[in-house]
Amino acid sequence: MKQPEIKSKLPHVGTTIFTVMSALAAEYKALNLSQGFPNFPASPELIALVNEYMKKGFNQYAPMTGVKELREEIAKKTFELYKINYHPDTEITVTSGGTEALFAAISAVVRPGDEAIVFEPAYDSYVPAIELNGGIPVYITLTPPEYKINWQEVKNKISEKTKLIIINTPHNPTGSVLNVSDLQQLADIVNDTDIFLLGDEVYEHIIFDGIPHCSLMTHPVLQERSFVCGSFGKTFHVTGWKVGYCQAPKNLTAEFRKVHQFLTFATFTPVQYALAEFLKKPEHYINLPAFYEAKRNKFLDAVKNSRFSFIPSNGSYFQNLSYSTITDENDYDLAIRLTKEIGVASIPVSVFYHQKNDYKILRFCFAKDDETLEKAGRQLSKL
Ligand SMILES: Cc1ncc(COP(=O)(O)O)c(C=O)c1O
Repeated sequence: MKQPEIKSKLPHVGTTIFTVMSALAAEYKALNLSQGFPNFPASPELIALVNEYMKKGFNQYAPMTGVKELREEIAKKTFELYKINYHPDTEITVTSGGTEALFAAISAVVRPGDEAIVFEPAYDSYVPAIELNGGIPVYITLTPPEYKINWQEVKNKISEKTKLIIINTPHNPTGSVLNVSDLQQLADIVNDTDIFLLGDEVYEHIIFDGIPHCSLMTHPVLQERSFVCGSFGKTFHVTGWKVGYCQAPKNLTAEFRKVHQFLTFATFTPVQYALAEFLKKPEHYINLPAFYEAKRNKFLDAVKNSRFSFIPSNGSYFQNLSYSTITDENDYDLAIRLTKEIGVASIPVSVFYHQKNDYKILRFCFAKDDETLEKAGRQLSKL
């Protein structure tokens, strides 16, 4: 009997490095600083709230757009932080994680043959989402140590087919952030064009040394064409809950919701009510930069006597370490060896480039308890 043969729509996609490294870390009992998730507990208050709403019976489908109370609190938070008004009914949508928001935004605008500009190294969900919609990723390579965007290069890559530019600030995996001048240069490029923007801002509250988060929404030329995505998983140490959101002008949100409606329809109900109540206390996110800055500093202090070199991460919960003066090994092999022999798992930054550019840099997640960070530093100093 002939079995149907599936012709992959994503022939280049295999098991992700995150799965590989986490499995290896478990096998070798290594400290897992590879995948981006905290190893400390979420707020007991937030967990109690979820429990409370479950017991009260909020266990059926939420509205497609998200629970109203949560959309209203997101609108308030956005106004307090950036002085920008998004209407909770027509411009804010709760999603099943930041990933779903990214996918829905890309699907809303990218058609077959459209080009989407992606800065590499890039978070791994952008390109598959572009390709599943028949789009063509147009890559711009950012290089260490600062991973600055050359806006003239962006201008040169724009064509009449360019439909979308994806911006991630604070940036995974490099920890770089955009500033006001970057936003202005981007605005000068897209002004009077039909180009949309996707702002992946899931690390908006994880930004250090007093640097302000420059959201796409804070520039009027950018705001009118942007889908800005956030993640409560990142902000409240609950990555497993997969709750995020997208803020975008009414006409963009209308199309976004058409996709979201058939992708997941709605997101986990009791968590949405709990988050709405939790957001009423701004200290839950206002104190986050200081909390994670202390973790970054703890990790940097722990590796300062190692042979790795680094510039401190400006945002996200990742710190990159360069080993170019230590060994010639490629970053993938070294990440494997460090896990097996030194007992610390990391992610080789080459995996975030489609051509696997190897700049001899490893990414470490410092969203870990202090003991883990200190121990990782001691072990890494053995290299
Ligand atoms: C840059 C970036 N965007 C989006 C996401 C996905 O967020 P969520 O877990 O809410 O889907 C992540 C998670 O690692 C990320 O690093």
